[in-house]
Amino acid sequence: MWKKWFSKKVNDENLENLYNTLDQDRIPKHIAIIMDGNGRWAQKRGMPRTFGHHAGAETLRNIVRAASDIGVQVLTTYAFSTENWKRPRDEVNLLMKLISDYLDSEIEEMNQNNVRMRFIGKLAELPQGVQDKIVESQQRTAGNTGLILNLAINYGGRAEVVHAVQIIAQKVLQGELTPDQIDVDLINRHLYTAGLPDPDLLIRPSGDLRLSNFLLWQSAYTELWLTDINWPDFTPELLVEAIKDFQKRERRFGGLKKK
Ligand code: FPP
Repeated sequence: MWKKWFSKKVNDENLENLYNTLDQDRIPKHIAIIMDGNGRWAQKRGMPRTFGHHAGAETLRNIVRAASDIGVQVLTTYAFSTENWKRPRDEVNLLMKLISDYLDSEIEEMNQNNVRMRFIGKLAELPQGVQDKIVESQQRTAGNTGLILNLAINYGGRAEVVHAVQIIAQKVLQGELTPDQIDVDLINRHLYTAGLPDPDLLIRPSGDLRLSNFLLWQSAYTELWLTDINWPDFTPELLVEAIKDFQKRERRFGGLKKK
């Protein structure tokens, strides 16, 4: 269990017992989460949307810790989409600041707990301050071998595929590749997620039933788990519930049921 983490003390022993009820042979390697419902959560409380984003960042802290304790290998969370720039400027600025503050405040704990940070998205378009934090977080945690926390920032699934196709086309033009060498594996290797397994489980809180341009290519055979609960109310207990549900499912990847 995490030795030291964040001031809000959760009952580590109870959680550890709960985690032990999971089938240890079928822990999803990669869990992806669309952290949705921050705005609605805040509005229900008569508060501005930004209050919900603060609460959502807090939830992320708890869920990173839980995923690590459970033994998940990769956790990818959707922090900001390529479409989120359409939001009011104040909300965009607040989100950028929250991401930057999050990296600042968590980096030490992440390091102590062997978490490696990765980032996916059009990172070069982010404010310079956020880019600097990203580089620092990646560098400082590069040698860690525990949970990979993969933050999707200015990320869009379509933009990611476009980016991969552009690089591949360039290689074909330069004679480094022939078109018949383009296959699923080659495309995988040109995505932002190169080297990571596809998500086994995708969690979407807040009741919306869509992928919202998240990991479109990678989620071809991902199991979905949806809940009406808004992200700020999401808990380690719900993560366990999602994993238990996942563990009951039969994954066929287009094949037939095992006899
Ligand atoms: C979707 O909820 C959430 C976002 C667009 C931002 C997610 C960001 C965080 C959880 C906090 C900051 C991130 C980090 C990495 C610290 P919404 O605003 O669309 O909610 P709504 O659908 O209820 O309006």
